[in-house]
Order: sequence, then structure tokens, then C-alpha cells
Amino acid sequence: MKKEILMRRYPSVVIALHWAMALLILAAYLTSEGGPHVRTNPPTLHFWLGMSVLALFVPRFISRLVQGGPPADNSHGELLALATRAGHWALYALILFVPLSGWYAASRLGLAVSFLGFQLPSIAVDGPPGFLADLHQLGGNAILILAGLHALMALWHQFIFKDGTLLRMLPSLRSNSPD
Ligand code: HEM
Ligand code: HEM
Repeated sequence: MKKEILMRRYPSVVIALHWAMALLILAAYLTSEGGPHVRTNPPTLHFWLGMSVLALFVPRFISRLVQGGPPADNSHGELLALATRAGHWALYALILFVPLSGWYAASRLGLAVSFLGFQLPSIAVDGPPGFLADLHQLGGNAILILAGLHALMALWHQFIFKDGTLLRMLPSLRSNSPD
């Protein structure tokens, strides 16, 4: 039998990255700051946490494209399956857009962004934060709201539909179980 048919959960690397990134996104949100004092007292921890999300996006997305995931569960109708897929792709889009627009906002404000000991280049000329910086703030709030709804849906599936959805994103405790 082919591996895709046996696969019931996401590959371990996707699972590890999913939970690491969920924690990093929450931490980036909690350390975010806005307003004029950002220029004089930049939230460097916020920058670092946000850039870690961007760095992990690359292996996550590649492993997702290459290894795929467990087959979609269509047992609750096509519409819910479509909404789930759309929600996941919207989350991926925000995971990429929010850190990139944050880097842009920092660059506009003339703030240095360092990551893993390297000073990253500025990606915009100094000036007022601008439209993309506003979108960064909006996107930062949107990702938290969407992830919150997504978590509620996952819990709803697990405990109301009792279809084992949560297990798809949890590591297997048995060493020989198919994943
Ligand atoms: C997933 C990652 C991130 C999330 C969830 C996030 C979220 C937010 C939020 C909600 C705000 C608005 C805070 C407020 O007005 O009180 C904000 C502001 C800001 N963030 Fe992020 N951010 C992320 C990544 C980054 C990164 C990677 C950078 C820079 C390298 C960055 C730079 C900034 C800057 C400079 C501001 C202030 C913008 C301004 O005042 O115009 N952010 N962020
Ligand atoms: C910032 C927080 C979060 C983000 C950005 C996020 C993002 C994502 C994304 C993009 C996927 C799609 C995976 C794929 O198909 O490649 C996914 C799947 C999943 N997430 Fe999250 N997630 C977050 C938090 C949570 C939380 C708190 C829970 C549980 C309470 C959760 C449970 C799940 C489950 C069970 C799946 C698999 C769903 C399925 O295959 O039908 N996630 N998540």
C-alpha cells in the first residue's frame, strides 16, 4: 500500500514546526509595540521573534510541499473541507506577510534588525512608517484572530465531532505507528 494512504498525521517535522511557530507567533504578538517611542526604544525581542517565524516558514513550507500531509477529511461536507483549506492557506499567507511587512516597517523607521548575530539589510528607505506598516499591524492582529478561530475549530472537531483531527497535528506516542 502506498505511504500516502497510510499517513494519518502530518510528518514529524511539520508537527514540530507547527507548534514552535504557534508559540513564536503568540510571543511576537505579546511583545509588539506601536507608536512614536518605537523609534527611540525599539522592541528588539519582537523583531527577533518575528524573524524566527520568517526563518522557520521556509523549511515548513518546503516540507509541506514535498512531504504533503494526511488526506483531507471530507466527512463533514465539501464546504467545510474547502473552508478548512482556505483557512490554512490564509494562515500560511499571513505567516509570510506579517514578518516581511514588519521588517519593512522597521526599515522605514530606520531601525536595525539583527537575527542570529547578523545585522540584516534595510529593505526600505527611512521615512514615515506608511501603508505597509499599517498593514503589518492589521496582519499581526488578523493572524491571532484567524489562529484563534482555527484552534477553536480544531478543538471542535476533536471533542464534538470526535474525528481525531487534533491527533493529525500531534506526535505519535507509538514508535511503529504510521505517520
Ligand atoms: C509573526 C510575527 C509578527 C507579529 C504577529 C507582529 C505583530 C505586530 C503588531 C500587532 C504590531 C502593532 C503593535 C501596536 O501598535 O501596539 C506590530 C508592530 C510592529 N512590528 Fe511586528 N509583528 C511580527 C513580526 C515583526 C517583525 C519580523 C518585525 C521587524 C523585523 C516587526 C516590526 C514591527 C514594528 C517596527 C512595529 C511598529 C510599527 C509602527 O509603529 O508603525 N514585526 N507588530
Ligand atoms: C499561531 C497559531 C497557529 C498557526 C499559525 C497555525 C497554523 C496552521 C496551519 C497553516 C495548518 C495547516 C497545515 C498544513 O496543511 O500544512 C495547521 C494545521 C493544524 N493546526 Fe494549527 N496553527 C496554530 C495554532 C494551532 C492550535 C492552538 C491548535 C490546537 C488547538 C492547532 C491545531 C491544528 C491542527 C489539528 C491542524 C491539522 C488540521 C487538519 O489537517 O485538518 N493549531 N495549523
